[in-house]
Amino acid sequence: MSERIDLAALPHDFLWGTATAAYQIEGAVAEDGRTPSIWDTFSHTPGKIANGDTGDVACDHYHRWREDIGLMRQLGVNAYRLSVAWPRVVPGGTGPVNPKGLAFYDELVDDLLEAGITPSVTLYHWDLPQMLQDRGGWPERDTAFALAEYASAAAARLGDRVKLWATLNEPSCSAWIGHLEGKMAPGWTDLTAAVRASVHLLLGHGLATQAIRAAAPGAQAGIVNNLSTVDAATGRPEDIAAARRHDGHVNRWWLDPVHGRGFPADMIDTYGIELPLKAGDLETIATPLDWLGLNYYFPAHVADAPDGPAPYVRAVRRDGVPRTGMDWEIDASGIETLLLRLTEEYGARKIYVTENGSAFPDVVRPDGSIDDPERQDYLETHLAACASAARRGAPLAGYFAWSLLDNFEWAYGYDKRFGLVHVDYRTQVRTIKGSGNRYADLVRGHRGQTRRAA
Ligand code: FCB
Repeated sequence: MSERIDLAALPHDFLWGTATAAYQIEGAVAEDGRTPSIWDTFSHTPGKIANGDTGDVACDHYHRWREDIGLMRQLGVNAYRLSVAWPRVVPGGTGPVNPKGLAFYDELVDDLLEAGITPSVTLYHWDLPQMLQDRGGWPERDTAFALAEYASAAAARLGDRVKLWATLNEPSCSAWIGHLEGKMAPGWTDLTAAVRASVHLLLGHGLATQAIRAAAPGAQAGIVNNLSTVDAATGRPEDIAAARRHDGHVNRWWLDPVHGRGFPADMIDTYGIELPLKAGDLETIATPLDWLGLNYYFPAHVADAPDGPAPYVRAVRRDGVPRTGMDWEIDASGIETLLLRLTEEYGARKIYVTENGSAFPDVVRPDGSIDDPERQDYLETHLAACASAARRGAPLAGYFAWSLLDNFEWAYGYDKRFGLVHVDYRTQVRTIKGSGNRYADLVRGHRGQTRRAA
């Protein structure tokens, strides 16, 4: 079925990757000097995570990483997006660097490179050291400077080999889901704290970008946002206005400031909270980037909800449309629309799809194999949409499938499986799913085309 994907539209040096995040796969939460993060605290708080699951063991990647690189070799991918766990590297949040924590990533990076796999490192995928949370966390300005200090330590050690750096993963989830909706760590429901957190996350992003470049000349720095296309559920003016607010909340609030446009005025009005900005902060936040990361999962359809919390919008569930096991609507055209929006509206010069994928309830056959046609179809249709965007001019430089492995899916625990590789959590046995084999075919297909063209 590769004819549905215009592989020839993708550049010769396209990065074909898979992605993971530290807390979701590593386990070993108390080993080699790692201290607790806000996700350890949150996952151990009764009632926060489905089935009471925690990341204590997860995929035990901290001990099985060599095997996991072996899986990537089998998939034939040439890139891997991982995140570094801040509480391993700077266990106190600020202050002394933990040599054992850095040594883990050092070895991992060496072995990836030896396998011909380009590492892309995300510094902050939500695992804030609990000690920083105890000092106020993201609503406090100091946390932004702490991120830069940690970024500097990580880049100084790994930057001779790691060229692709992301400061933050999905800061909108940290700010809005973590501080406003309360469904992710630290589990707050406080608009003032959430808005302050959002500003300090972006300030931290700007400071960390500068710190990475100072510590690792030649590093290419970016930020990873999860974006959605947004439609009004009806043509009512109230719903159209709600769609505009939702777009502000999930998209523009995160894109405008890093592109030097400041925070969107309409959203400052909507939130009604004074932003904790000091002179020069907007310039720091707008430190030029080498690339933008796009995480895409689903489109949004919204209606006005005047009585709800800011931004006074509610999601409207459309009937009769395909959905994943997360109950997320499937719409591959959304990724194309967003890639073109980043290109046209924000002038992106280089974009990576840093995450895209789907959870479905997998069935393990008696022979141990896993056939997952729905995940495979999601992968193919979204890759086809990416290739189409590239054909239409989006500077797409790589695609990282979420995820290499089934893993700890945050508040959903281990029930939701996003992996191209199945994990049996009792035995830690890994098995490449049908979708993983299909991905390997596509990577090979693109490589073959590239070779023929050369
Ligand atoms: C994204 C997260 C990632 C994973 C996927 C399914 O929001 O960045 O860690 O949980 O969703």
